[in-house]
Amino acid sequence: MTILLLVAFFCRIKKQAAMAAKNKRKKQPKLPPGPATMPVLGNMHQMLMNKPVFRWIHRLLDEMDIEILCLRLGRVHVITVASPEMAREVLRKNDALMTSRPASFAWRAFSFGYKNTIGSTGDQWKKMRRALASEILSPAMECHLVNYVYSHCNNGTVDVRHVTRHFCGNIARKLVFGRRHFSTPTPANSGRALRRNGDERREVADFLDVLVSLEDAQGNPLLSLDEVKAETLEIFIATVDNPSNAVEWALAEMVNNPNVMKKAVDELDVVVGKERLVEESDIQNLTYLKACIREAFRIHPYHPFNPPHVAISDTIIAGYLIPKDSHVMLSRIGLGRNPRVWVNPLEFRPERHLNNATSTMVLAEPELRFVSFGASRRGCPAVSLGTSITMMLFARLLQGFTWSIPPGADKIELQESASSLQLSKPLLMQAKPRLLLHLYELDRL
Ligand code: HEM
Repeated sequence: MTILLLVAFFCRIKKQAAMAAKNKRKKQPKLPPGPATMPVLGNMHQMLMNKPVFRWIHRLLDEMDIEILCLRLGRVHVITVASPEMAREVLRKNDALMTSRPASFAWRAFSFGYKNTIGSTGDQWKKMRRALASEILSPAMECHLVNYVYSHCNNGTVDVRHVTRHFCGNIARKLVFGRRHFSTPTPANSGRALRRNGDERREVADFLDVLVSLEDAQGNPLLSLDEVKAETLEIFIATVDNPSNAVEWALAEMVNNPNVMKKAVDELDVVVGKERLVEESDIQNLTYLKACIREAFRIHPYHPFNPPHVAISDTIIAGYLIPKDSHVMLSRIGLGRNPRVWVNPLEFRPERHLNNATSTMVLAEPELRFVSFGASRRGCPAVSLGTSITMMLFARLLQGFTWSIPPGADKIELQESASSLQLSKPLLMQAKPRLLLHLYELDRL
């Protein structure tokens, strides 16, 4: 009898322990959904077989009808997020836990050993971000753009991609080296050399001057040569890609949609008129033009994903476990083209941004319904500069010229490249000057 009682007692204890373990397993959050993985490799083999990878990832999101996806590459979990609610959980609610960046061969090479702002972490990131944010945010936008396009549109067709990239490249050169190149380069600014030799009387002339002149508390150079190179490269890439791509796409969409084009040009005529060129100070009043650029960022971002945010500890997003060291990427097209958030998401309709008429229109989108400058402490430090570059480029092209479809075509082919989100071919359009001649001449170098 005693033996039977003992057996029954142990059976009960064992059952309770098994149930407790089961409950614990039940409460443990799961990883986000994703395709089956192979031991060790995870999903690496599928990635290699499905190029370009960003299109495969977005196909998976569609086919599985999900807004968060987990892939495993070796030991690293790569999480893609395509819903604004989850994006806000990542970048706003859990901002402090999502501040790191990947350690990988590509990131190391691009950042000269994690020396720039976007690729670094910890104290290095704080130092580079401070140097960048405190010095570069409001340069004057000299552009000489309309004169350049004017001299290239006599025979009709203009390569818009060439013009937009050239303009942004010039701005980058002006920022970094203090000169521009729509014409013959001016001699290198001598201020930098004098400043480096310790002549305190010289004014800093450009961003490179600022970088090499920065000193630590002991009066030693704050930045090493590699840090200066890494930051310079970063500024070039950041200044060219996003603004030029957004303006090229916006013009392509608008020339196919004369109603939108007319509203934008009418706004310029009312706000600025035809007697002078549009200036940076006009941007705040160009609401419809800003809505057009927001629409371009929404549907046609340059990069399919935000740079990865690496989780510094286990985190829960939308009830799913995001293990420490996961790379979390917001999908810019997943968010911007999300049919749950945007009606007819592929339709270029700037009016959808005009709902909130009481507040000033900006290009930033802190609600993360699409990505322009991101959010969180790792969001873009150059929102104001990026806005100025993009809007000046866009507004001057629209104010200076009447754009139309080249002869022989009935619309612009809005085909994305197979391997990126750019237009598959550079945009070629007819440009006809619409201002008085002296304004193009005034804009000459
Ligand atoms: C229209 C123009 C621009 C757009 C749309 C844009 C957008 C972005 C986005 C989406 C991010 C990633 C945020 C994240 O990781 O969550 C970013 C980061 C960054 N951007 Fe921009 N950007 C623009 C212009 C610029 C310019 C002109 C500069 C510098 C001169 C710049 C410097 C940076 C840097 C350094 C980071 C990394 C910040 C960090 O990791 O702390 N961007 N930008």
